[in-house]
Amino acid sequence: MKSPTDKVEENLIRRKDLMVSDNLRRQVPEGSKKKDTLETFDGAFNVQDMEQYVKKLGIIEWLGGSEEERTKDRNLAALQRLLIRPRALVRPVGNRDLTTVLLNGKITVTMPICFSPSAFQMYAHADGETATAKGCGKAGALMTLSAWSNKPLEQVKKESGCENMWMNVYIFKHRDRITQLVRRAENAGYNAIVVSVDIPILSRRKGSSFYKEVGKFIEAAHFPASDPQFKDLLAGDPDATWNDFAEICKMTTLPVIAKGIMSAEDAREALKHGASAIFVSNHGGRQLDGAPSTIEVLAEVVREVNGSCDVYVDGGFRSGMDVFKGLALGAKAVFLGRPAFYGLAYNGSDGVQKVLEIMSEQLSRTMALSGCAKLSDITPDRVMTAAFL
Ligand SMILES: Cc1cc2nc3c(=O)[nH]c(=O)nc-3n(C[C@H](O)[C@H](O)[C@H](O)COP(=O)(O)O)c2cc1C
Repeated sequence: MKSPTDKVEENLIRRKDLMVSDNLRRQVPEGSKKKDTLETFDGAFNVQDMEQYVKKLGIIEWLGGSEEERTKDRNLAALQRLLIRPRALVRPVGNRDLTTVLLNGKITVTMPICFSPSAFQMYAHADGETATAKGCGKAGALMTLSAWSNKPLEQVKKESGCENMWMNVYIFKHRDRITQLVRRAENAGYNAIVVSVDIPILSRRKGSSFYKEVGKFIEAAHFPASDPQFKDLLAGDPDATWNDFAEICKMTTLPVIAKGIMSAEDAREALKHGASAIFVSNHGGRQLDGAPSTIEVLAEVVREVNGSCDVYVDGGFRSGMDVFKGLALGAKAVFLGRPAFYGLAYNGSDGVQKVLEIMSEQLSRTMALSGCAKLSDITPDRVMTAAFL
């Protein structure tokens, strides 16, 4: 009889095979029926359907939230609660344009839907972040690479052909590690730095134990487990303040975006200390549990910024209808976290491209059905804020 330890070991090996094998899509997780395998299941009518693939791959715990996951769930629930307020016959809606410019016209993208930084994408596909960037490139969208990517930033940029890529850093205790990543990103052709300001310490997540089990099979490209500073780099410096954020702004000519803003006060501080754009985020409910959803605080931040720079948002956006709501409340673009894993698990770079296609087509249809032809037609009166906020 097998001991429990043998069973755990077997399970880990199976997971490793599922995640890193070239035969990824031919592997069928235990318990799934023949007719409904990764290979044959093709029910992706919407992005939620794609989540099935992540479940089949056995990596859903990696995508969890912190503590009781209330904020993670609230992101989705609040977006459901906010309703679209359509208008009929206000203008011709036969031709619709989803193209937009970000960072004061520096970047043009085919849609206001981009990818947030999310770590360890090889959990979902052997090509990891390179596949995500390829999918974005094919769709004309933008990707942010996590500091904790499995693939090195130069390789992702070079192999993907993705034109618009931003690089993510935390305010690491070892400041030289920030400088190194920023220089590498500049040299590799990244066009902005995204600083996560919401991770002074790492929160408690069930997914962390998944990382401990499975992480040993797949290395973080910039911070291998053998790195003597490995543990310190898992989060930012708990003693960092806005002055440290300002130092990062000063170290580069690239625009620096403050990610993790959840209040008007922090938006004001970020701008005062050199941010080029504000990114409203609660880390997908993976840091402070008990925080509001991002759609609930977006209007407050947009009011504070008052048109002086772009405001971006992420957290629970899973459809073009959700994106429409973010744009209506003043975001210049909406970002996606977990859907990168859904797309990757579904079909690598093609799956990521499919996520973007599904959501941009939904956005386009939502615009037509609510009386909008251009993104600038998506004004605050297109959503029912009175009942929501
Ligand atoms: C698995 C995973 C890894 C993440 N890694 C990072 C990271 O390295 N840096 C960061 O700023 N945010 C990270 N995030 C947060 C995302 O950037 C984003 O804020 C969040 O996922 C958005 O919510 P959504 O997943 O509901 O779309 C991660 C999120 C997930 C799910």
